[in-house]
Amino acid sequence: MLICRPGTDADAPLLAQLNQQLIQDEVHRNRMTIPELERRMRNWLATEYRAALFIEASTVVAYALYRPEKDAVYVRQFFVCREHRRRGIGRKAMQMLLGGELAAFDRVYLDVLTKNGGAHCFWEAVGFHDYALTMEIVRDRANPRCSAP
Ligand SMILES: CC(C)(COP(=O)(O)OP(=O)(O)OC[C@H]1O[C@@H](n2cnc3c(N)ncnc32)[C@H](O)[C@@H]1OP(=O)(O)O)[C@@H](O)C(=O)NCCC(=O)NCCS
Repeated sequence: MLICRPGTDADAPLLAQLNQQLIQDEVHRNRMTIPELERRMRNWLATEYRAALFIEASTVVAYALYRPEKDAVYVRQFFVCREHRRRGIGRKAMQMLLGGELAAFDRVYLDVLTKNGGAHCFWEAVGFHDYALTMEIVRDRANPRCSAP
């Protein structure tokens, strides 16, 4: 059985570790260390973000971090632990969130890195649709030859 409980300041060390695994898995360019991620997580939980931890057999198997806004809610992080994937936990956890904490919001939105194809398939499978695509030029100031055209 999957249980959901709110994350608190006491969960920040665990959430920082899971956040680092999320960064690795989605191949994000964020290079923050675990202590930095923990400080950021504490600050977020003390201010505008809420966390939900999903527990199966007394073990945290997934978490979500989201920010309620005036008319919408932004899901900033969503992660299922590696050894628990493709067992329906992500789907169940999102159903619990959408039907629970996030039920009052007319719009739920999030970002997916374009190279994170598995996550894109997951979000479509749980009912999300493409809305916008962020485009950018990243300038490598230290090595101008590598700059984007
Ligand atoms: C993406 C993620 C949350 C999915 O969690 P999960 O528990 O494995 O997902 P589920 O088992 O509930 O999958 C539900 C459906 O989503 C789709 N899906 C999930 N993972 C997929 C993948 N890697 N490739 C293609 N489709 C996928 C499938 O349709 C799946 O249904 P099926 O197993 O019956 O085929 C998990 O892989 C994860 O944490 N990845 C790393 C972090 C990440 O990328 N987070 C999202 C950031 S935007």
